[in-house]
Amino acid sequence: MKQAIDIPSTLERVLVRCDFNVPMHNGKVLDLFRIKTSLPTIRMLRDRGHKVVLVTHLGDPEGKVIESLKLAPIAEALRELGISVSKAQYMLGKEAKNAVKNLQPGGVFLLENIRFHEGEERNDVGFSRSLSELGDAYVNDALSVCHRSHASVVGVPSLLPSYGGLHLESEVRVLSEIKYNPQKPFVVIVGGAKVESKGRVIEQLIKKADVVLLGNLIAEKLEKDQPLLLEFPNVVPAIDGIMEGGRALDIGHKTRELFLSKIKDARTVFWTGPLGMVEEERFRSGSLEIARFLASSPAIRTVAGGGDLAAFLGREKLREGFRHVSTGGGATLHFLAGEELPGLLALE
Ligand code: 3PG
Repeated sequence: MKQAIDIPSTLERVLVRCDFNVPMHNGKVLDLFRIKTSLPTIRMLRDRGHKVVLVTHLGDPEGKVIESLKLAPIAEALRELGISVSKAQYMLGKEAKNAVKNLQPGGVFLLENIRFHEGEERNDVGFSRSLSELGDAYVNDALSVCHRSHASVVGVPSLLPSYGGLHLESEVRVLSEIKYNPQKPFVVIVGGAKVESKGRVIEQLIKKADVVLLGNLIAEKLEKDQPLLLEFPNVVPAIDGIMEGGRALDIGHKTRELFLSKIKDARTVFWTGPLGMVEEERFRSGSLEIARFLASSPAIRTVAGGGDLAAFLGREKLREGFRHVSTGGGATLHFLAGEELPGLLALE
């Protein structure tokens, strides 16, 4: 992978795929972690006089413009972090091209939510071409989107000289250590609400990890779709939950004890996805107990992944206790399971 630091100055305009898909409430950004991870790359390109065009999605608008998913709050957050960014623009084509052309060297421009365009998720060739016309070079600084074969992840890098951003490089370095050389016992904890398509990855992780702990949602999903996976002796699903409306919205006390007994002797723990609906105080304590234990266990190489878990650890002031917090949840799981991520392949 070529590195963003090596982009020649002759490539004036640089498109940077970031992941500013951050938790929001009432139009306010609740956690800046993902935005902050891209700052070193943005500053480096800006300080070298490139025109920087930031590309991100927010939520899943499925190709439609959704008012609450516009990026004005993200632009505001970037400004508060010292990046003076021009107003987000929706339109590609002439209007956006002119705006980028009129940027001063070192200027930063934020494109409006890229998933407002249908062509993004379809990896439409015409759409990739329009997007690529806004840059002379492409940088991916978001491991968290590298499992998606979308236009801004794989289409554009097939059309422009492409590079890995500073944060992407550091993620790949740290996660490769766990992937190829985890200190054993190696425990994986899979929580989170996005349970679709995790079955295949878990199947791979069962072969690599000594123990795989499963939160209620993913355990239920596997029970329905791939019950045989729950038969493996190293797979430990949640055994109870704090219930509401017939759904387990946090792990119960027996599960907490069971999970703690499995992680206490671990040397490496990778955890993705909260174990309950942590946005609500009353469903937070299961994840909190596990997080506090891990954050105060320096002998364990602790890596957490995913936007929701990263935000939760930040809110609880526990992020610093982890060796590494990855921006990626699904992407990081796929990476650790040994799959080739399309977004990384596109940078080869
Ligand atoms: C994430 O939040 O994991 C990334 O931003 C990717 O989002 P997605 O699952 O909607 O593609």
